[in-house]
Amino acid sequence: MTHTLVYPITARNNAAGHLEIGGCDVVELAERFGTPLLIYDEATIRDQCQRYKAAFSAHSDNFEIIYASKAFSCLAINQLMLEEGLSIDVSSGGEYHVAKLAGFPSEKIFFHGNNKTRDELEYALDGGVGYVVVDSFQELDLLEQLLAKRGAKQRILLRITPGVEAHTHSYIETGQVDSKFGFGLGDGLALEAIRRAMNSPLLELMGLHAHIGSQIFQLEAYRRAIEILVQLVAQARASFSFECRYLNVGGGLGIRYTQEDSPSSIADYARVKVEGVREEVRAAGLPMPRVLIEPGRSLVGKAGVTAYRVGTIKEIPGVRTYVSVDGGMSDNIRPMLYGARYEGMLANKANLPADTTVTVAGKHCESGDILIKDAQIARPEPGDILVTPGTGAYCFAMASNYNGNLRPAVVLVREGEARVIIERETYADLVAKHRPLRH
Ligand SMILES: Cc1ncc(COP(=O)(O)O)c(C=O)c1O
Repeated sequence: MTHTLVYPITARNNAAGHLEIGGCDVVELAERFGTPLLIYDEATIRDQCQRYKAAFSAHSDNFEIIYASKAFSCLAINQLMLEEGLSIDVSSGGEYHVAKLAGFPSEKIFFHGNNKTRDELEYALDGGVGYVVVDSFQELDLLEQLLAKRGAKQRILLRITPGVEAHTHSYIETGQVDSKFGFGLGDGLALEAIRRAMNSPLLELMGLHAHIGSQIFQLEAYRRAIEILVQLVAQARASFSFECRYLNVGGGLGIRYTQEDSPSSIADYARVKVEGVREEVRAAGLPMPRVLIEPGRSLVGKAGVTAYRVGTIKEIPGVRTYVSVDGGMSDNIRPMLYGARYEGMLANKANLPADTTVTVAGKHCESGDILIKDAQIARPEPGDILVTPGTGAYCFAMASNYNGNLRPAVVLVREGEARVIIERETYADLVAKHRPLRH
């Protein structure tokens, strides 16, 4: 069994023939903390952060790496990102709250969203937020109204929709013309937004932002987006002396979920983003801005694995074998939402050949609750610990209580130690906000 490419960097088979991550035996973790269990490897997250920093440093000393916390908004993980010197992107009042609690200073917080509510904006302005990434004219109006009441000035970026297709799943493509996000270039809307923001005494327009999608393997789309953004900057500079100090070129780097995936390297990603901006601004005779990026998936995706316990095994001769586990769509909706593909292995049979083809099903009352179709694993038996790698991003973040299932516990492993960073929900949590019909 090889797990170097898809699994966390510390993954190995131990002497007991079990999968080990961060020096911890996954089977023991499952016994100790219960299942489903989300296990994060600290070394992998730090390694990814350091790779990003090294890759960008090779091209520039004026860049900022912003963790897109929508991938996994969690106090301890945010604190780890802060220790690594990253900034943070929040996409709601809730994510802002977690980022503040984690200790992020205002100047490191970027607030995104296509429909930030008045309450969310007020909460962020009152608590201190470094940058609001403004998505619409309504938001410009609302922000000015709120700032006028406070007599305060706010740094902003404008989110631009560059009209570029990112060749990823349509649900995670965000930069195409037909998008709910940002100011489009058609009808001069983006230019008008820049003019409006520059004319406001309450707004300090620091620059522009564009994010074209997620799980992107082909870097050329970024090159095109950068070209379009810089053209807009040049136009705005010629029209009203706009100075673009920050250019946020989004996140989106894809990761490997199965051995067949071949994402680009962080080094290539950094080169395309920084040199792409450098070449374009040079050609347009513009000064080089600070280059901002905001990866989520590629910082935490590979670091996480989910451990489930195998329950019912249903063999339909000549058709397929369903191996049901004690989680599914309530802890990982991605296969159902995007048709995302995963691999699996039995952590307690790590040295045995993966010679059995099965379909790994969840426990929810939906036929579509299938985690992996045609997984190759060792011969399964009830009680085995089945692991799916690559569940560190957009899994817990999208978890639900569907069918009254409890959100799993999350542990962080490092050098043989495991610490709970999110407690498993309880049945009491499930009804904590419910109120009975009659007292
Ligand atoms: C505005 C914005 N920035 C950053 C990200 C993070 O993308 P990824 O997790 O693919 O790096 C997203 C994700 O959709 C996003 O919408």
